[in-house]
Amino acid sequence: MSSLDKYTSPVSADTWDVPAAGATRFTWEYDGGRERLLNLYQKGKDKQWDAQTRIDWDLPVDENNPLGLPDEFNPLKGYERYERMPAKELDILRRHNCSWIFSQFLHGEQGAMSVAARVVESVPDLDAKFYAATQVMDEARHVELFSKFANEKIGMLYPINDGLARLLSDALSDGRWDMPYLGMQVLIEGLALATFGVYRDLATNPMVKQLLAFVMQDEARHVAFGRLALRDYYSQITEKERAEREEFVVEGCYLMRDRFQAKEVFERVGLPVDECVKHLETSEIYTIYQSLLFSRIVPCVRDIGLWGDKVQAAYADIGVLDAARSDLDALMRQDEEIAEGFSKAEAEAELDARRQEVDAAVAAGAESD
Ligand SMILES: [Fe+2]
Ligand SMILES: [Fe+2]
Repeated sequence: MSSLDKYTSPVSADTWDVPAAGATRFTWEYDGGRERLLNLYQKGKDKQWDAQTRIDWDLPVDENNPLGLPDEFNPLKGYERYERMPAKELDILRRHNCSWIFSQFLHGEQGAMSVAARVVESVPDLDAKFYAATQVMDEARHVELFSKFANEKIGMLYPINDGLARLLSDALSDGRWDMPYLGMQVLIEGLALATFGVYRDLATNPMVKQLLAFVMQDEARHVAFGRLALRDYYSQITEKERAEREEFVVEGCYLMRDRFQAKEVFERVGLPVDECVKHLETSEIYTIYQSLLFSRIVPCVRDIGLWGDKVQAAYADIGVLDAARSDLDALMRQDEEIAEGFSKAEAEAELDARRQEVDAAVAAGAESD
């Protein structure tokens, strides 16, 4: 069955074409390269993994609540209409919510794959081209994984959200080499990383926790890449150029804030969109979500030097200025440790199973003696 048949509203069978601009840059300098970037490239090569074998695809998934998200974390909590919803409608809402979230992850990953490929072409230095090439492969594996989960475990897809589509096409069609980088590596990846983190920690389904932890292990490198390369470049641009980048950041962050209201879901399940949005604006859970979602972007934007008055005013307006104090390096170390923890648990379980097999074989042998 084609995945086109699984969308909640019809999507075109034609490709979505975003025109590219700017040059493909070649360099004849094959020597040198920044040590930190080359180390990151080495890590990118060393840490490749295969979703087909690393994820335990046989773990059960509840179709009506694929994430296993406890209801107290629903931002509609407290909204009178939501509180009155019968169990059957709640199941539908949970399934749609999860489908919407994973569909945006999936489309975002496809975007990341294309932007990383674009960065390989357009970035001037070879060390950055090398690193971006490993990221293309990482993103391909993420598309593969989210597509498998959305298609096989949820069985329902949402079209790409308008805000995400706009941010992607703005980033991809800009001829300046750093703009796809800034849009993708800092804004979209930063938001994705934080969102994966929220669901990794809140979801109770073991497969979901596992796959998000593994994807986050890769995404942490991608954000680090954006930081390293852009910090160098932005330390030498003019004030006018900086103002243009800051404007892009402000616009992108408002787009992403609005993106996370999941209005398409309210519309689809027949809830009054305006009332739901109004509830979100005063919801304590939603406010916490939002500050978590910006927890990776804000410190990164500050770190790469795009920290003018307009950017700070926008973050104050969105209510996430405090996130500037987060320790990005500590968060990323933690992401790695959590993913390694899942791998270790997995290896131990495998060892355990093998031990049991050996014991059974020994016992069978003893019996036949
Ligand atoms: Fe990714
Ligand atoms: Fe990524």
